[in-house]
Amino acid sequence: MKQTYIKTWGCQMNEYDSSMIAKYLEKTGQYSMTTNSEKADILVLNTCSIREKAQEKVFHQLGRWKKLKNKNPNVIIAVGGCVATQEGEEIFKRSKHVDIIFGTQSLHKLPKMISEIEKKRKFLIDISFPELDKFNCSLPVQKKGYTASVSIMEGCNKYCTFCIVPYTRGKEISRPSDDILFEISNLAENGIREVNLLGQNVNAYQGPTFNGKTCFFSELLRLISEIDGIDRIRFTTSNPLEFTDDIIEVYKDTPKLVSFLHLPVQSGSNKILKLMKRSYTTEKYEKIIEKLIEARPNIQISSDFIVGFPGESKEDFQQTINFIKKINFDMSYSFIYSSRPGTPASEMKDEINLKEKKERLYILQNYINKQTMSWSRRMLGSIQSVLVEGISKNNPMELYGKTENNRIVNFYGSSKIIGKFAQVKINKVHTHNLKGTLL
Ligand code: SAH
Ligand code: F3S
Repeated sequence: MKQTYIKTWGCQMNEYDSSMIAKYLEKTGQYSMTTNSEKADILVLNTCSIREKAQEKVFHQLGRWKKLKNKNPNVIIAVGGCVATQEGEEIFKRSKHVDIIFGTQSLHKLPKMISEIEKKRKFLIDISFPELDKFNCSLPVQKKGYTASVSIMEGCNKYCTFCIVPYTRGKEISRPSDDILFEISNLAENGIREVNLLGQNVNAYQGPTFNGKTCFFSELLRLISEIDGIDRIRFTTSNPLEFTDDIIEVYKDTPKLVSFLHLPVQSGSNKILKLMKRSYTTEKYEKIIEKLIEARPNIQISSDFIVGFPGESKEDFQQTINFIKKINFDMSYSFIYSSRPGTPASEMKDEINLKEKKERLYILQNYINKQTMSWSRRMLGSIQSVLVEGISKNNPMELYGKTENNRIVNFYGSSKIIGKFAQVKINKVHTHNLKGTLL
């Protein structure tokens, strides 16, 4: 068995892709996975290019791996993911010790490419976009305890002016609904209790059904909720643009769908949203939230924010802060704008200096942290449904699990309930976890 070491950077989609790479390699019966890069015969780097210094980071890593290859010239180095798709052959030019370059949509071809390299050492590249081919494999993937991620669609057609994703992942394409349902039923039979549906814009899902019709996202959610054993459904990421009323309706009648939604707004200024080509206004976003609260009064919303987008004035930034307070966002991700080569925003004049950008990020994150804490404090005394994941790493007497709104809860209980849902009363709130009592 040849040992393979996979290093993954970036989003949950990349994590998912890496688990598929492992699966495709293991399926051949010739490769097994290792966590020790020094002992590996094959080194795989799954790259990300969403923000800063992505390329630099790749070449630094390849520099480190060059030393391993100098020690053992038979080591095969493969570079995949978004930087690979974007840079293509340029990577060979800068790093002569790389053997294989494969794209986000051609990872299933990796085993064949590796065996070709083993026969005649000549470098190989495949960054084509063969639609959905990579999903033609039905073994369950990426299980973390009792939660599993399931990719339902790929790519993005929105072309927000700052974003590289449409260029690295290709156009939106949805997996057939039956494949997804089959995969999730399989996961349920293997003890999975919670699924996280993945895609760049999951709410744009429109997958073919077995009888030639189209299944939309709202229908897919309802179908998944009928699978026995799956008791919690999440999804990430969705976009305000196609967050239609039929999806909001699902919150009314599908309790398995969590009362927590990640819906990135990016900015609270309509001027900036327009420059970003987000195709919605803050008013439209607010309207969606209002309807969601009507459908599910206890829903919590999280978001992504970009600060320092070209043209963002102090006033625009203040509007974002006001919006954060108005919507009362829970824990969110925030980033300093990073110019991505080839995107329309990279041509816009960026006059804000880095110090100012860092200050804005600091202010924004402070507000979010305060709100996150206040959402947690609201949970004091409440009874939460917790998916018990295992024994706490810090205290072997305690168990830990996750609430619907992504909080880790520690509590005393028997290990027999690991992998099950438990009712836990929250009696202490810390920054990174909650303490509770099992009921
Ligand atoms: N489909 C999602 C976004 C996926 S990208 C949506 O519609 O919002 C994940 C996050 O990375 C984005 O929400 C954005 O906040 C951030 N991001 C993307 N490109 C960026 C850039 N050039 N600079 C800074 N942050 C960026
Ligand atoms: Fe990127 Fe906008 Fe699509 S942020 S992933 S282009 S919705």
